[in-house]
Amino acid sequence: MRSMIDILELSTKEIDELIDVANDIIANPADYAEKCKGKKLATLFYEPSTRTRLSFEAAMYELGGNVLGFSEANTSSASKGETVADTAKIISGYADIMAMRHPKEGAPYVASQNAYVPIINAGDGGHHHPTQTLTDLFTIKREKGRLHDLTIGFCGDLKFGRTVHSLITAMARYENIRFILIAPDELKLPGYIRYGVLENNGIAYRETTSLEEVMPELDILYMTRVQQERFSNIEDYLALRDTYILGVDKLATAKEDLCILHPLPRVNEIAVAVDADKRACYFRQALNGKYIRMALILKLLAEKDTPTAKPEGAVSFEGAACINPRCISSTERDLPHLFKEVDKGIFRCIYCDTKLNI
Ligand code: NCD
Repeated sequence: MRSMIDILELSTKEIDELIDVANDIIANPADYAEKCKGKKLATLFYEPSTRTRLSFEAAMYELGGNVLGFSEANTSSASKGETVADTAKIISGYADIMAMRHPKEGAPYVASQNAYVPIINAGDGGHHHPTQTLTDLFTIKREKGRLHDLTIGFCGDLKFGRTVHSLITAMARYENIRFILIAPDELKLPGYIRYGVLENNGIAYRETTSLEEVMPELDILYMTRVQQERFSNIEDYLALRDTYILGVDKLATAKEDLCILHPLPRVNEIAVAVDADKRACYFRQALNGKYIRMALILKLLAEKDTPTAKPEGAVSFEGAACINPRCISSTERDLPHLFKEVDKGIFRCIYCDTKLNI
């Protein structure tokens, strides 16, 4: 059975097909109204969410299916100490497909290795968020008409922003994409994206701390919230929170057809006055999330008999454990510490991609 943990599990052809289906759903909603009749989606949300959870639920209802689940870890047996692996096995008996959001990086992956139904990663810690990426790709295609030949500026929290990590990973596969990374030193992109995706594949990128300086070059500006919940102390967060605030004034030098995206929620990084600008696409982006999730649910249910891929080439080293405190291997009992060799002599944790120092 097929799960959706990392955006790279989908080929660019499959992404095109999902976009086509989502467009068809928008054009002909009645054709899809009973496609999931008798099917159930479980939403397992161990972390707050508005758009992701409710768009998944709306997506399943609009396909004629039903929804069950929880929206807080403390209302589930996680609060009694149940492992993700056990929860995934149990819910497999109650639902046909599950969407999981978890603060621990790699938790949905562990669920997918243990469940008997497809698992969708709805955000794991500061790691990945593939369905937001599908939403972003769908929005870029609808707004710009293409997924190639684009200069994309990512602005804000590029360290903890999981939507950024997944979108860079996905966009790096298209022709002639240039990334401009706009972030303070403290919030720069993590190594597994910088080296694993950009440098290793020779992809053009530039780093700056100034949004104003690069504004005229951008086709897409992807604003992000500084991820307060990933900071270990509030002072560090407060010192960085207001680094970038996009106001109407800053758009004066921007292209006429700039597309401004934000996964939302926004705190204060985009002034409300910008909402009236035709270049503000983020509310349309949030709506698109429902349609592309409908397309994804249909695809995964149709492919549910495909066997789950086992971790290929995973190795363990005596006494070696992942050092990332946000990794699922730091809390999940009986989970082996496994690593994959990503480059000669460079090993990364299979759950969270943190580099192993040996
Ligand atoms: C994002 C997330 O949860 O990573 N939100 C979302 O799913 N639309 C971004 C964020 O919380 O800042």
